[in-house]
Amino acid sequence: MEKINWSDLGFGYIKTDYNVRCYYRDGKWGELEVCSSEIINIHMAATCLHYGQEAFEGLKAFRGKDGQIRVFRMEENAKRLQASSRGIKMAEFPVDRFEEAVRKVVKLNERFVPPYESGAALYIRPLLIGLGAQIGVKPADEYMFTVFVTPVGPYFKGGFSLSKVCIMREFDRAAPNGTGTIKVGGNYAASLVAGEMAHEKGYAAVLYLDPKEKLYLDECGPANFFGIRDNTYITPSSHSILPSITNKSLQQLAEDMGLKVERRPVAYDEIKTFEEAAECGTAAVIAPISQIDDIDNDVSFVIAKDGKPGPVCEKLYQTLRGIQYGDLPDTYGWISIME
Ligand code: PLP
Ligand code: COI
Repeated sequence: MEKINWSDLGFGYIKTDYNVRCYYRDGKWGELEVCSSEIINIHMAATCLHYGQEAFEGLKAFRGKDGQIRVFRMEENAKRLQASSRGIKMAEFPVDRFEEAVRKVVKLNERFVPPYESGAALYIRPLLIGLGAQIGVKPADEYMFTVFVTPVGPYFKGGFSLSKVCIMREFDRAAPNGTGTIKVGGNYAASLVAGEMAHEKGYAAVLYLDPKEKLYLDECGPANFFGIRDNTYITPSSHSILPSITNKSLQQLAEDMGLKVERRPVAYDEIKTFEEAAECGTAAVIAPISQIDDIDNDVSFVIAKDGKPGPVCEKLYQTLRGIQYGDLPDTYGWISIME
């Protein structure tokens, strides 16, 4: 294996040794197969290619000081993949078999789990696609579930450091009652144009407003949003955002830290009141926000007035990472040790 410089890893794809695959045919899932090829050979009329029958997940494995490998909340990812599958009429993959697949693929690629000191992790990417050939718009009769892994560093440059996000009112990533609450590829395709424009202008991400009225905050392209004010953790509830497992975990940790937690529609007008704000997700972890620019209205909201991530974000970040790497107790049973 080429030597990997673990501490310099960004969020990119690096080939690992194995992936696992499972096929749904004749109304049932088959055996889990181990595969060393990165290639999927599929029918040109497969529904994943034409009609977007595709859903994915993202979770991470962490190597602790004790050498053990810990995976964070995989049951939640398994259930969310099932919800995504129901949302676009795909066969659901059983939760216990999802967990078995994750264990297997992590174990087989153990040498790619970054060392504790690097602060990097092994990103786990489950994928479920419609394989059956259709030309009419209907669900496939065959599916493939696969999981691959790749070692990653921070999603946003600099890791836990401030970055700017922007509001672009002419773009939505999901419709008001569309597929925003599930993790399907189409949502990410819909976010590419605005995402690229934002990056060119020097922003880490787009902060989407609710697609119906543009009065409330939704989420960022690849992560949820939260704000901190008056010892309160405030995060949007919305019909067009992904239920983030990181966000759910942070709400619990915030409560444990003595903060009040509010999950409710968050008005655009509240931005100016936030003492801290951040993006959160598996890839992003917690990415504190320095400033939110409403580009179309030419308005800037400076959040981090002293130019540093705020103390609440910092503490949440340390606590979450502490649990994930095994430095802090796993009070809620969020960790699965890979034997
Ligand atoms: N929102 C979107 C659109 C995402 O793609 C992700 C990443 O999975 C998240 C939020 C964060 O979700 P989680 O914390 O479960 O990774
Ligand atoms: C994640 O955080 O796992 C994601 O899926 C976000 C992004 C890479 C799409």
